[in-house]
Amino acid sequence: MVSTRRSLLAGSTSALAALAARGAGATTPGSSPPLPRPIPVAAPGQPGLNARAAGKGLFFGSAVDDLQLQGDPALMARIVADCGMVVGESSFKWEALQPQPGHFNYSRADALMRFAAKNRMRVRGHTLVWHEANPPWLEATLTPQSGEALLTGYIANVCGHFRGKIAHWDVANEVLHPEDKQPLGLRATPWLKALGPRYLDLAFHAAAEADPGALRVLNEFGVDYALPWQEKRRVAMLTLLQTLLMRGVPVQAVGLQAHLNAAETTLDQRGLARFVADIAGMGLKVIVTELDVRDDGLPADIPSRDEAVAEHARAWLDAVLPHPAVLGVLTWGLSDKRSWLNSKFPRPDGLPQRPLPLDAELRPKPLWSTIAGAFDAAQAR
Ligand code: G3I
Repeated sequence: MVSTRRSLLAGSTSALAALAARGAGATTPGSSPPLPRPIPVAAPGQPGLNARAAGKGLFFGSAVDDLQLQGDPALMARIVADCGMVVGESSFKWEALQPQPGHFNYSRADALMRFAAKNRMRVRGHTLVWHEANPPWLEATLTPQSGEALLTGYIANVCGHFRGKIAHWDVANEVLHPEDKQPLGLRATPWLKALGPRYLDLAFHAAAEADPGALRVLNEFGVDYALPWQEKRRVAMLTLLQTLLMRGVPVQAVGLQAHLNAAETTLDQRGLARFVADIAGMGLKVIVTELDVRDDGLPADIPSRDEAVAEHARAWLDAVLPHPAVLGVLTWGLSDKRSWLNSKFPRPDGLPQRPLPLDAELRPKPLWSTIAGAFDAAQAR
């Protein structure tokens, strides 16, 4: 097994060297943009996004804000129509599950589990270890002495509670930040400070032990474009994965969050496809975990904004979806009714962003059709 792993990783070493030598990628010379594909128009009664995905051995899903969902039966119905998987936008985070030391509150997460089970949808767990959305008491008590028991005890409790019912766990979220000059390009989080890089080993092993049936995912953003800072993150991601696998850390998949920007002009499809292939070359699966397309850099006009968002997503999906290691796509929300982007990147004109497949009235947009078309065009797994 070790020799197999070494040979697997040897391939990625050369890929790493090539990636590092390539420097800031640019649009590949001579690469002509693919011919525009007729966009299937979403019509009532047409197969939903997950039905189209499942027909090719893929899945489609969305993040859901459980608090928003409770008061919105129409949105609930659309989620059931389009999704085969859901992920709690906030209800599975440490601040929600363990608001006080020693006190677990699974009520919100269990409500989402019941909703998903009733509608025969799978659930992603997001996320076990992160530097955000932690309860205030956690970082106040996290020390090199307490850290291991805190982390592994929490994961054992949470993964044990949901054992056998979670399709994937985002075991670790957004761990990279090369600018922090830490080992392996890791982000200088309280976890790294308290435990060093082995906090990742501890988290993945604890998750594997508590729920071996849940796919264990390392979830990351900012690896999409041929921008220097994102090139560094792609190299860091491949180096980190290689290191973890060499140490026997049971990571099984990478989550590409895919928070895209319709105004970004440096999408290098070949470079992105190679990055996905490099990850897959290590024997790992890939999931598109949080797709949305910010439009704060675009003019206000809605039809052209919607087309630009759809076209941008199509170019990105055309580079990523064809790889057989890619298991499926989730968007970070299904409807423009609510998006984190409006607070994080408010449009200068004050208009709400339109980053998701359905508009605020739950009508399919060109982005819905783009995702549908990507599944329709995908090779069956
Ligand atoms: O539920 C409380 C509410 O009771 C309170 O009145 C309100 C005002 O303080 O806050 C509410 O909690 C907010 C929570 O979202 C639920 O809406 C938190 O303050 C707020 O920080 C939290 O933001 C979420 C953020 O992650 C941090 O957890 C965003 O909705 C969510 O979209 C965002 O999602 C992240 C992924 O987890 C990781 N990838 C990036 C993505 C976008 O940042």
